[in-house]
Amino acid sequence: MNRTALEVPGLRRLLAPLVGRQRLIVAARFERHATSLFDRLERLYGDREDFAAWSIDLMETIGRLHAERPPALLALDERRAAEPGWLAAQTMLGYSAYVDRFAGRLEGVAERIPYLQELGVTYLHLLPFLRARAGDNDGGFAVSSHDEVEPRLGTMADLGHLTEKLRAAGISLCADLVLNHVADDHPWARGAAEGNARLRDYFLVFPDRALPDAYERTLDQVFPIAAPGNFTSAETLGWVWTTFYPYQWDLNYANPQVFTECAATLLRLANRGVEVFRLDATAYLWKRLGTDCRNQPEAHWILQALRAIVEIAAPAVALKAEAIVPTRFLPPYLGVGAEAAPECHLAYHSSLMAALWAAVARQDARLLRQVIAETPPLPPGCSWLTYIRCHDDIGWNVLRSDIETFDRDAGSYLQDVAEFFSGARGSFARGAAFQAQGAAAVHGTNGMAAALAGLESAADEAQRAAAVRRLQLLNGVILAFGGLPVIYMGDELALGNDRGAANPPATQDGRWLHRPHLDPALLDMRHDRASPAGAVFADLSRMIAGRRGIEALAANAPRELAPAENRCVLALKRGGNFLLLGNFSDAPVIEPLPDGEWLDHLSGEELRGTARLEAWQSLWLRRAAASDGRPSTSEPAPPACP
Ligand code: GLC
Repeated sequence: MNRTALEVPGLRRLLAPLVGRQRLIVAARFERHATSLFDRLERLYGDREDFAAWSIDLMETIGRLHAERPPALLALDERRAAEPGWLAAQTMLGYSAYVDRFAGRLEGVAERIPYLQELGVTYLHLLPFLRARAGDNDGGFAVSSHDEVEPRLGTMADLGHLTEKLRAAGISLCADLVLNHVADDHPWARGAAEGNARLRDYFLVFPDRALPDAYERTLDQVFPIAAPGNFTSAETLGWVWTTFYPYQWDLNYANPQVFTECAATLLRLANRGVEVFRLDATAYLWKRLGTDCRNQPEAHWILQALRAIVEIAAPAVALKAEAIVPTRFLPPYLGVGAEAAPECHLAYHSSLMAALWAAVARQDARLLRQVIAETPPLPPGCSWLTYIRCHDDIGWNVLRSDIETFDRDAGSYLQDVAEFFSGARGSFARGAAFQAQGAAAVHGTNGMAAALAGLESAADEAQRAAAVRRLQLLNGVILAFGGLPVIYMGDELALGNDRGAANPPATQDGRWLHRPHLDPALLDMRHDRASPAGAVFADLSRMIAGRRGIEALAANAPRELAPAENRCVLALKRGGNFLLLGNFSDAPVIEPLPDGEWLDHLSGEELRGTARLEAWQSLWLRRAAASDGRPSTSEPAPPACP
């Protein structure tokens, strides 16, 4: 297939609906990104007879959708093209919430913008809000329509109004794009079940168990108890691939029409003002017999092709990979590696998240240090998404290979951690195991951060203070690590578990434990430092405000582990003048400091020689003067903390 030969008619069809300046702008972007786009498309679909016609139709679709892009978003495209590092700035702060649990409906979210601004939020991830399957729908991740908002939550017009208001407030909306599957009541699935052969080819359907059984031999299970197996029998079709729940039908990306549908969905939502797409379950997009069907090269080519399309048609948009896999598999999602091309701008650092909690359980920072040491630097403009909790369980298995660098029995290590967070052996944590089959199989842990950190079990003031310090310690790392920190709704107010969802039957989805409604009483308490909600809110607000002024904390600024004398201490340097020290233990420790004078950024206290860290305490230290005695000039002084 001659690529150049396709690029010319492709460009013609892309530009056909465009006029004036926009035509020139898009032509120039096509010039820059077409080779990479056509290369990836050809790798994926080049051996199909209809490749030429299909790829030109794809260009037409992109051009048509670009022609519908509102002027305000075209302006944003130009602005973002001029500031490619926007996501990596230390001024970025994320917040993630379910629409109904945070604010009822999309209109309610708009009313909470002042609250988000008070916190310093610049990026808001609203969990799935498109029309979801009736009945069970995996918290909205079983999408029934890509073109309607879930009626409980609002309308497409409400979405447009919300994104306008968020944009005016300097907040980018992030939405899920559930690429891997649709609900079994989505029109594609319904059509397939009713015998439409074109739509049947949107799914991975098998007449009998022969191939499903062959695939199962090397596949893992995401929900081994609630949804065992990876295939579901669908009456008229045979066996349908369902990686997650039986009602979530995996899409067949070997069919190029599926790619077109997905690119078009993305561009339509981008035209509504969505600025960041959380590409759900990206690791699973391509299946290959004899493998675990995760992180396949084709999955990356699909994402790289989507990125090239975004660069051409909506460059204000950023892509975020939700790939919950060990750190060593993540760099390609961010365009790093041998075969790499620009791919996503952001990726969840789930190993960092899980290792933070493991450090709390074990009172040992070695695993955390190992994960940080394994984290590669990123290309300019890319960023890790750092977090302590999200709507999913803490998946422990991503840590196995990191543990094995110092402990051969990763299974027992993780078992111990998971038991700790279930409240076993008198632990302060009040979480629950998720999808664990028996004592020997570790899977995940559910629970809100406050409950896991000990606030729910705290019986006196000292225990409450320790839990608040643990939260500050964890939040301090995700804020200083160098990434886009995302706060999970309620964690800023020490919101506890959803008691109504406690102790669900084993087959029910236990993740609802940490999906409570935001309690308005907690919101009202946020400035009362005597309450746990107010104490956590104050700590977080102070760190967020401080971070904004420290350029060394930007995602692309250097990061280096510093040696620590105590096994329970994390020492993380950001450039020459910033040092984070965190004590992951319930006893005070003394840590030697690098030469020179240091200022505790949060308290203003001066330190030299050593630092004493109380139980669970963390310090953000700034060099008061360069080690030769001269004041440091390489970084601007941070603003005073409130
Ligand atoms: C992602 C979501 C999770 C969901 C799954 C299937 O991992 O975060 O909540 O269950 O995808 O869509």
